[in-house]
Amino acid sequence: MTAAPRPGVGLDALPLRENLRGSSAYGAPQLEVPVQLNTNENPHPPSAELVADIAAAVSEAATDLNRYPDRDAVELRTDLAVYLTRQTGVELDVDMVWAANGSNEILQQLLQTFGGPGRSAMGFVPSYSMHPILAAGTDTEWIPVQRGADLAIDIDTALTALAEYRPDVVFVTTPNNPTGHAVELDDLRRLLDAAPGIVVVDEAYAEFSPSPSACMLLAEYPTKLVVSRTMSKAFAFAGGRLGYFAADPAFVEAVLLVRLPYHLSVIAQAAAGAALRHSEETLGSVALLAAERNRVTSGLEALGYDVLPSEANFVLYGPFADAPRTWQRYLDAGVLIRDVGIPGRLRATIGLQSENDRLLQVSAGLVATEIMTTQEKR
Ligand SMILES: Cc1ncc(COP(=O)(O)O)c(C=O)c1O
Repeated sequence: MTAAPRPGVGLDALPLRENLRGSSAYGAPQLEVPVQLNTNENPHPPSAELVADIAAAVSEAATDLNRYPDRDAVELRTDLAVYLTRQTGVELDVDMVWAANGSNEILQQLLQTFGGPGRSAMGFVPSYSMHPILAAGTDTEWIPVQRGADLAIDIDTALTALAEYRPDVVFVTTPNNPTGHAVELDDLRRLLDAAPGIVVVDEAYAEFSPSPSACMLLAEYPTKLVVSRTMSKAFAFAGGRLGYFAADPAFVEAVLLVRLPYHLSVIAQAAAGAALRHSEETLGSVALLAAERNRVTSGLEALGYDVLPSEANFVLYGPFADAPRTWQRYLDAGVLIRDVGIPGRLRATIGLQSENDRLLQVSAGLVATEIMTTQEKR
């Protein structure tokens, strides 16, 4: 819910840092509509057992609320290491895992540590919109490199850009938001070999993808590779705010230099621990969502849309003559999807079966007026 605007003096009247002038805040619309398919959440709410377990864990933790939490969240990181070992097949222990309030905070801490004034971060765009915003927030120069015509990373272009700009931090999102592409390990190796600084592989959607995790490369690249993950997507824990990374223990030591003391509250640690105990059950929905993604893809294709192959819980599709106008048409029909700023394309998160049915139904009604004609494509 957006707060009612109050009259203020306006940003221009404030002594804002120069590099923040003219930039925009992250702003996926939060609207009350029947079908919300715009922020890549898991549409399955937590089970009654999970809610009860979280409530019990939080209630027990609350008896200690007069004390600061475990600053290093050792118990939670141990549980995350066990989960990640099981999920990726790569042996990881607590010293290699760090946790924070969502992977956005993880990425911010990495930029605070390895970016900053006089340093730069590179990303392959279009990709996750927060990467440049976090770079601006930490006064790190942002270097966007365009993806290829198919919107996958063009590795040769990427290697040339790495050699030319020599960024301190490189973001590789796989599967990529908003395109859904995954990057193969051999391509990651080529990027890692060429990167002069660190490479942050953002695996927010990894559980939805059959591709192997970049965790497989941690032993090969101990001084360069960080793999970032989140409980917001597959784990259906977006409201709990829990992200984490896996890397050589030195990276954990490094972020300790910038993290706020006691950044993860007692409540957050207890709730995330309970959610992890239910991981098998929660992740059961991942297969359902992957099957729904394939159904939505085929459905849209059958209607005449062009859909990018996705290994995540969303699809990017089009071509629309005027994507912002089409986005509004969906909204008028009670379906909130996302205009990520790519001309002619919109992104829809995969929801519950009934929500996906509604997406397909509205999409069918828009074919005649919204899809770009062959003439317009020229
Ligand atoms: C690629 C990517 N990384 C990170 C995030 C941030 O997730 P969170 O801060 O909820 O962990 C998102 C959320 O949409 C994302 O798409």
